[in-house]
Amino acid sequence: MFGTASAEPAEEPFRWGAASAAYQVEGGASAEGKGRSIWDHYLDDLSLAGPGMSGAVAINFYDRAQYLQDIALMKEMGLTSYRFSISWPRIIPDGLGPANPAAIAHYRRFIADLKAAGIRPMLTLYHWDMPLSLAKAGGWENRESVAWFRHYADVVFDNFHDEVDLYVLVNEPLVERAMKQLAEQRMTGAPGEFAIVPPASDLAGSLRTFNHLLLASAAAKQSFDAKGYKGRVGLAVPLFPTLTGPDATPADREAATLADGVMNRWFLDAMYKGRYPADVLAAATAMGSDLGIRPDDAATIGAARFDYLGINFYAPLFIRRPAGAAPGYAAQMFLPEGTYAAYNGAVRPDQFRALLDRIRVDYGNPPVFITENGAGFPGEDELVDGAVNDTQRCRYLVDHIGAMKAAMDDGSDVRGYHVWSSHDNLEWLFGYGSRFGMIHVDFDTQARTPKLSARVYSDIVKGKPVTAASCG
Ligand code: GAL
Repeated sequence: MFGTASAEPAEEPFRWGAASAAYQVEGGASAEGKGRSIWDHYLDDLSLAGPGMSGAVAINFYDRAQYLQDIALMKEMGLTSYRFSISWPRIIPDGLGPANPAAIAHYRRFIADLKAAGIRPMLTLYHWDMPLSLAKAGGWENRESVAWFRHYADVVFDNFHDEVDLYVLVNEPLVERAMKQLAEQRMTGAPGEFAIVPPASDLAGSLRTFNHLLLASAAAKQSFDAKGYKGRVGLAVPLFPTLTGPDATPADREAATLADGVMNRWFLDAMYKGRYPADVLAAATAMGSDLGIRPDDAATIGAARFDYLGINFYAPLFIRRPAGAAPGYAAQMFLPEGTYAAYNGAVRPDQFRALLDRIRVDYGNPPVFITENGAGFPGEDELVDGAVNDTQRCRYLVDHIGAMKAAMDDGSDVRGYHVWSSHDNLEWLFGYGSRFGMIHVDFDTQARTPKLSARVYSDIVKGKPVTAASCG
C-alpha cells in the first residue's frame, strides 16, 4: 500500500509524474521554423518504421489547443511533475546557427501552462532528435558534438533558467545507439535486430559515442554552474540489471558481467568515480579498438558532479555469450522460455529494487529521479465501450512503485517517479503499434481516453490505498 506522505523526503515534496519526448508526441514537423532532425529523415524520407509511420503528426502535442486538454487530464490525475523534451532543431533549426524565437516562445508558453495547472516541468534537452545537419556531420561519433551540445545547452539555459529548475541533459545514450544500429540495418532492407547490448562489431563505436555524450553533458553542466543559474542538472540513463539463464556457463556469466560494464558501469563509474571500468577498457583494447578516449575524459565527467541520477528502468536483460562467437567481448540478450515479459523485457520489480539498492551501496546514494518506468503488453490497449482495461500495465506500475518504495525504506534517495508515458505515442522504429500510455490515444481522431492504469496511478499519487488487486 502506498501513500504520498511516507514517500516525501524532507527537502521537497516527492514528484509524481509522467514522461514523454518531443518527436514521439509533438507532430508539427515543420511548424514555426523547425529544422529537420535525423528522425524526420529516418521516418519521413526513408519510411524505416513502415509507410505512414512517422512523427509528422504524432499525437498533435505541439498544438496548444490539444496540449491544454492533455495538461487538464494530467492535472485531474493529480500529477505534480511532467518530464518532456524540447526539440533541438526547433530551438536551433540548423543545429549551430541562431536560435528560433518562435520555438522558444512556444516552449515558454507550454511551461507556463503546465505550472498554471500545478505541474512542475522537468525539461529534457536531448531525446534523440539531433538536427539533421549535425547527424550528417557525424553526430555523436564526432568529438565536435561536445561543443555543438554545449552551445545548444547554453541557448536553452539562457532562455529557460527563470522558469525551469530541473533539467535532463540527454536521454539514454545506450538505447539511442541501439536504435541507430537498427535504423542502419533497415536502410539495407533487412528487418534488423534491436540489440540493446552492443554487439562486438559496434563495441568501439558505442563506447566512443557514450564518451562524447558524457563529455557533452559535463560541458553543459559546467556551463550551467558557471552562469550561476539555480537548479538541478543530470542525465537519464537506462539501467539494465544483467541476468543469466538457468543453463548459464561460466562464459555466459563472464559475458553478463562485461555487458553490465558496457551498459551500466560505463556511465555510473564515469559519473560517480571519475573513471571508466577497467574490464570494459581492457576488452575493447584487446579487440584492437580505437575508442578515441583521452586520458582525462572520465575524470572530467566525474568532476562535473551532476546533481542527480536519472534512471530509466524497464527490465533486466538476460545475457549469454552467442554460440560460435570470436574470442573476446561477445554478448547477446535473450528471453528464457516461459518468462513473463512486456514489450521492453522481463517483468521483474524485484530487479528494480535491487538496482536502487546497488546505486545506494556502490555509488554513494546520490539523489535519484526515476525518469522513466512503464510497460506495454501486446493486445491489452483495446478501447471497448469507452474503456481500456490495461490490467497488466496497471499491475506493472503498482508493483514497480512498491519496489521503489521498499528501496526508499532501505535508504535510497529517490526524489520523484515518472511513468513512461502519460499518453500512447510514437514508439520510434516500431511505429504506433506498441502503446505505453496511461491515456489511450486514437491516432486517427486524436481522441483521448484515460485507461484503468491512469485511474490507479492517480489514486497512488493522491495517497489513496492501492494494491495490485486495485487493477482487477
Ligand atoms: C525508452 C525511450 C522512450 C520510449 C520508451 C518505451 O527507451 O527513452 O523514448 O520509447 O523507451 O520503449
